[in-house]
Amino acid sequence: MLSAPAVREAADHEVALACDLLRRAGFGTQVGRLLEYPRRSPAGAILLADGPQGPIGVACCASFGATGWIGALGVAPEARRQGTGSALTEGAVAWLRQQGAVTVLLYATEAGRPVYERLGFESEGRATAWRGVAGSAPGVPLRHLAERDRDGLRAVDRAATGEDRGAVLDVIAPLAGVAADGPGDGLDGWALTSPWGAGAAIAATDPAAGIALMAAASRGPGPGTLVVPDANEPAREALRSWRFVRLNDALRMRLGPPVAWAPERQFGLFNLFWG
Ligand SMILES: CC(C)(COP(=O)(O)OP(=O)(O)OC[C@H]1O[C@@H](n2cnc3c(N)ncnc32)[C@H](O)[C@@H]1OP(=O)(O)O)[C@@H](O)C(=O)NCCC(=O)NCCS
Repeated sequence: MLSAPAVREAADHEVALACDLLRRAGFGTQVGRLLEYPRRSPAGAILLADGPQGPIGVACCASFGATGWIGALGVAPEARRQGTGSALTEGAVAWLRQQGAVTVLLYATEAGRPVYERLGFESEGRATAWRGVAGSAPGVPLRHLAERDRDGLRAVDRAATGEDRGAVLDVIAPLAGVAADGPGDGLDGWALTSPWGAGAAIAATDPAAGIALMAAASRGPGPGTLVVPDANEPAREALRSWRFVRLNDALRMRLGPPVAWAPERQFGLFNLFWG
């Protein structure tokens, strides 16, 4: 039996090769945009698994301190079923633990799920990507996000994810999106565009604000994409009433103790890498 391949961090000149490998693994043409975050952020990493003739697999990491995410994990079709996917997952978990991760999270495909289950990951529920144009929504007043909203934005994000995602929120500049004002200085919710997703990331403290923000983020004229946890029933109901079409879904999985995740406060994920 072959021994599991060595896993190491990619050098900067190998990022194009990593994108190429991921496209061959089935990740689509836009995967390069997703890799820009782990490539540029000190809180991210791109790992490669080496075969006899060069790299055969990729895994990416995003650290948020006590939590960490694994994403864009793929193995070249001709190199599968030799332990490479497992070795990449173990390498990514080790990297994230070094950054302080107590809980490691990921969104799994059906192909990835057995690999992660064998390593102890547990299922937490699905998220679905939808595409369409929004119809009518609650009349919640919205305004453009501004620099002064950064604290409020982070507080709503923390309440929705149970994580401190400052590492990713702080590098989004300028802030492009809309906000719903809450009582006092706080926000009820926000919808934020970023370079790393097909649609907007959206978090809100209540369904009316969340659905108004979803509508603002995908009001057309062309169809927009929204990725929403299946556990957010009001968001799913709105998508169904707007006749959005399901594109694909993935299973959120966790290694380590649960975080205070509130899927009913997530109305749009950045992507299926770090949620
Ligand atoms: C999911 C994916 C990364 C798995 O990669 P992989 O290198 O085949 O993973 P592993 O080899 O560690 O495990 C896969 C299977 O091979 C088996 N296997 C591992 N080593 C083996 C060996 N030496 N001989 C025979 N079988 C072996 C494992 O037991 C496992 O079996 P199971 O899934 O039927 O339980 C790969 O299929 C892939 O890139 N898929 C497309 C992209 C994708 O879905 N990525 C996951 C995103 S979350």
